[in-house]
Amino acid sequence: MDARGSFYLLLPFLVLLARGAGAATLTFNNKCTYTVWPGTLTGGGGGQLSSTGFELAPGASFTINGVPDTWSGRVWGRTGCATDASGKFTCAAADCGSGQVSCNGAGAIPPASLAEFTLAAAGSGKQDFYDVSLVDGFNLPISATPQGSGSACSATSCPGNVNSVCPPELAVKGSDGSVVACKSACLAFNQPQYCCTGSYGSPDTCPPTNYSKIFKAQCPQAYSYAYDDKTSTFTCAGGADFLITFCP
Ligand SMILES: *[C@@H]1O[C@H](CO)[C@@H](O)[C@H](O)[C@H]1NC(C)=O
Repeated sequence: MDARGSFYLLLPFLVLLARGAGAATLTFNNKCTYTVWPGTLTGGGGGQLSSTGFELAPGASFTINGVPDTWSGRVWGRTGCATDASGKFTCAAADCGSGQVSCNGAGAIPPASLAEFTLAAAGSGKQDFYDVSLVDGFNLPISATPQGSGSACSATSCPGNVNSVCPPELAVKGSDGSVVACKSACLAFNQPQYCCTGSYGSPDTCPPTNYSKIFKAQCPQAYSYAYDDKTSTFTCAGGADFLITFCP
């Protein structure tokens, strides 16, 4: 076969490559003054991403390629992590309990600030959905910004530091006594009015509480409780890549 013949055979694959071959990227950027250990978890029984946990120094960034364009899952940032004398890796906040830097299919143990995604393929007519959730609490500021084909779409951000205004009854303290995370009232008290369960089990019957308002004041775009208003879910035409920033 001549060179031109091979080129036409390859053409469909070249077009696929140019479109990212049906894959998205998740890029993580650490703007905090401290090291963050991001974790990723695929939802709904899908396969885990090529990285389920890694270390990100202040100012560093890291990209996970080959994220399926229909991926759904969540990402978060572990803080205050160290490896003990026996080789076990643990974190002061948002640990996944794997004992390793990789989370291997384990999720964040709350409280943890989460960025959640349900992606859709480019050209499918469906939308990417994304949000920042503090429903189980907060550990560090985080944002999710659509990139690539989605660069015109809105970012969603939790820029505030809830730890600095966390009521003592919700606070999780590190070994040095500083507040390393802030539980949601649902997580701390497990009561229907905070968890939107029982007679509080619908958007109409589960209003914001004095506790959820503390989270909402710091992070107006983030979910502060289960039935937070619709300003907390963001959408973009399917096929976007995403940038996750810690301490945006
Ligand atoms: C929130 O309201 C509950 C119930 O009224 C009260 O016990 C609690 O002290 C309040 N907490 C804050 C931080 O306002």
